[in-house]
Amino acid sequence: MKTIIFPSDYFNINEVDEMYKKEYNALLQNDYFDVILFSYDIFLESGKIVLNRIPNRPVSAIYRGWMMKSEIYTDFYTRLQQKNITLWTSPENYRKFHEFPYIYPEIVSDTARMLVYPSDNVDWQEVRQKFRRFMIKDYVKSVKETDFPKYISSDTDITEWKILLEKFLQYRGTLYTGGICIKEYLDLKHYGTKTNEYRVFYINGETATVSRNSGQGNYTPLPPKDLLMKYQHLSSPFYTIDYAQLTDNSWKIIETGDGQVSGLSDNQDIENFYRTLQILTS
Ligand SMILES: Nc1ncnc2c1ncn2[C@@H]1O[C@H](COP(=O)(O)OP(=O)(O)O)[C@@H](O)[C@H]1O
Ligand SMILES: [Mg+2]
Repeated sequence: MKTIIFPSDYFNINEVDEMYKKEYNALLQNDYFDVILFSYDIFLESGKIVLNRIPNRPVSAIYRGWMMKSEIYTDFYTRLQQKNITLWTSPENYRKFHEFPYIYPEIVSDTARMLVYPSDNVDWQEVRQKFRRFMIKDYVKSVKETDFPKYISSDTDITEWKILLEKFLQYRGTLYTGGICIKEYLDLKHYGTKTNEYRVFYINGETATVSRNSGQGNYTPLPPKDLLMKYQHLSSPFYTIDYAQLTDNSWKIIETGDGQVSGLSDNQDIENFYRTLQILTS
C-alpha cells in the first residue's frame, strides 16, 4: 500500500493542515492509503523533515499539499528518502509539470502560443509584434484575483508596459518562479459569466478524473475524449492538465500542474478521487 503525505497543522504535527482536512478525513474513513504528516513550515524554514511517524521499512509515497519551488521539491525528495520514504514523482517530473515552459514543447499544438523569457528582461517589441492581446504569467502562476488586467494589448506604450511588468513582479513577490511567460489571450467561451474549464488528473497513464473547474453549471459540454486521451502518456505518473472551451467550440490547454500540488475542483468527489488514485497506483 502506498502512503500519502500531507502537511500538518503549524502548531501540531499530529493534526493535518486545515486546507487538507477533507482529503485527510476521506482517507481515514477508508484504507486506501497509509497517511503520514510532516511540518511544511519547519521544512521550508530550516530544511529539516519532521514527521508524525517514520516508517520502519521503505515505503512509496505521494505528497498532497502546498506547492513548492522545484529546487525545494528536489530537497524534499532527497530528505524523505533518508527517512525510508520514496516519492512517486521524481524531481525532474515535478519541475516539468509545475513550470510550464518545460512541458510546453510536448503540448504546443493544443495550447496558446507563447513567448518565454528566462528572466524579467522581456523584449517588448517582440511581444507586441507577436500578440494583439496577451496575458503574463511566471513559470508557474498568473496574478488572477488581483486588480491586474486580465489581458494586455499590443497598443500599450512602453512606459505603461514597464509599469505593468513591475506590478506583476511585485504581486508575485517571493513566489515569483523562473521567468516570464507571455501567452496569447484566447477567446474563452462563456456560459453566463462563467468560462467552461476542466481540471483533469492523469494517473499512471490514465485519464483518471475530469472535473468542472470554473464554477459553471453541470450542463456544459465536456472536452472531447480524444483530446483528453492524447495527453495521458506524458512522462510523469501523476499530473493535471486544465482545458478550456473557446468561443469557436474548440478546446485549448490552459495550464498543467504536478498532481501532488494541484487542488481538487470545487465540487470534485474527494472519496472517488482517492479510490481512483488507489486503484491506479496499486
Ligand atoms: N491564454 C489565455 N487566454 C485567455 N484566458 C486565459 C488564458 N490562460 C488563462 N486564462 C484564464 O485565466 C485563468 C488563470 O490562468 P491560469 O493559467 O490557470 O493561471 P493560474 O496558474 O494562476 O491558475 C484561467 O483559469 C483562465 O480562465
Ligand atoms: Mg489555473
